[in-house]
Amino acid sequence: MAVLAIGSCDRGCRFSAEQSPNAGTAPIELARGVNLGDMLEAPVEGEWGQRVQQHYFDLIARAGFDFVRLPVKWSGHLLAGSGQGSSAFSIDPDFFDRVDEVVCWALERDLSIIIDLHHYDEMQTNPDLVAFVSVWRQIAEHYRHAPPQVLFELLNEPRDAMTNALWNRYAAAALQAIRESNPHREVVIGPSGINDFSALADLDLPRDSRLIVTFHYYHPIPFTHQGAVWLDGSEAWLGTDWQGTEAERLRVIGDFDVVSEWAREHGDARILLGEFGAYKLAPQDSRIRWTAFVREQAEARGFAWSYWEFASGFGIYDPESGRFREDLYQALMPTRGVLRDP
Ligand code: GLC
Repeated sequence: MAVLAIGSCDRGCRFSAEQSPNAGTAPIELARGVNLGDMLEAPVEGEWGQRVQQHYFDLIARAGFDFVRLPVKWSGHLLAGSGQGSSAFSIDPDFFDRVDEVVCWALERDLSIIIDLHHYDEMQTNPDLVAFVSVWRQIAEHYRHAPPQVLFELLNEPRDAMTNALWNRYAAAALQAIRESNPHREVVIGPSGINDFSALADLDLPRDSRLIVTFHYYHPIPFTHQGAVWLDGSEAWLGTDWQGTEAERLRVIGDFDVVSEWAREHGDARILLGEFGAYKLAPQDSRIRWTAFVREQAEARGFAWSYWEFASGFGIYDPESGRFREDLYQALMPTRGVLRDP
């Protein structure tokens, strides 16, 4: 049985050092989740307009989600240490305290939480195996006594210099380092090629019974990313709609079938659609249609999903009004009925 050793999340929390509560437990089942995007994934929390707040977890739990995915820019919080070369960098203990607090907020509300290594930009431009494994060894040791509802995700959207071949080596090495301290923890792994479904064929799935395989789905990009400020040329796509025509639906179905087939060929691998969403500048009726359809396709195949994202540019929640965007929420949770104000 997992226990949180120190009571109050407000003062940060630690996980019991006496026990290994994640030993020998049944696999964690994920179903419906949401990404806490733009928060701890920013170089400094708050810099992208959002901070993680405790009451978000009340809202998320009450809205029927069972897990959150937490993108974290760990690489923005490395301190120069006393060792040699890139392995010399250690994660700032103050930053660990902050992530612990957030993890604790989720666990207290029975939400599982995926701790994701997000925006480790150096790994996409100039990969360094020693640094990558060192960061994972630190995170893994830190959470070795956390309950099994804490999951790790190896790297968000590997791409560019992190080629398929390289990523297969890096993922295996990081997993090995994690397993030294966390033999049973669920670990989320996705393909290189920006976690696109089409790159799954190139992923060498390590032999490990506690893996969840993730992919992201934003097709068609000119629809989901129209006007996205971080994507050059995306303003030219403004006005692109998604009517849900047969051709549009067949594309999604065909793409998801590729994932199902891959999972079947890989021992019925558990699949997580870790990100999907359409940016706020897309026509709203199309956003709702696309979001509902993609979510349905995931559920029809038994994939867990986590919507991108909670309270920012794709947000299902409007932090200014303090309300969920009901139409988007219904696209995700059609059987939950209208959400009452908290
Ligand atoms: C990826 C990026 C994130 C972006 C999202 C949608 O997760 O890391 O920054 O907002 O995709 O484009």
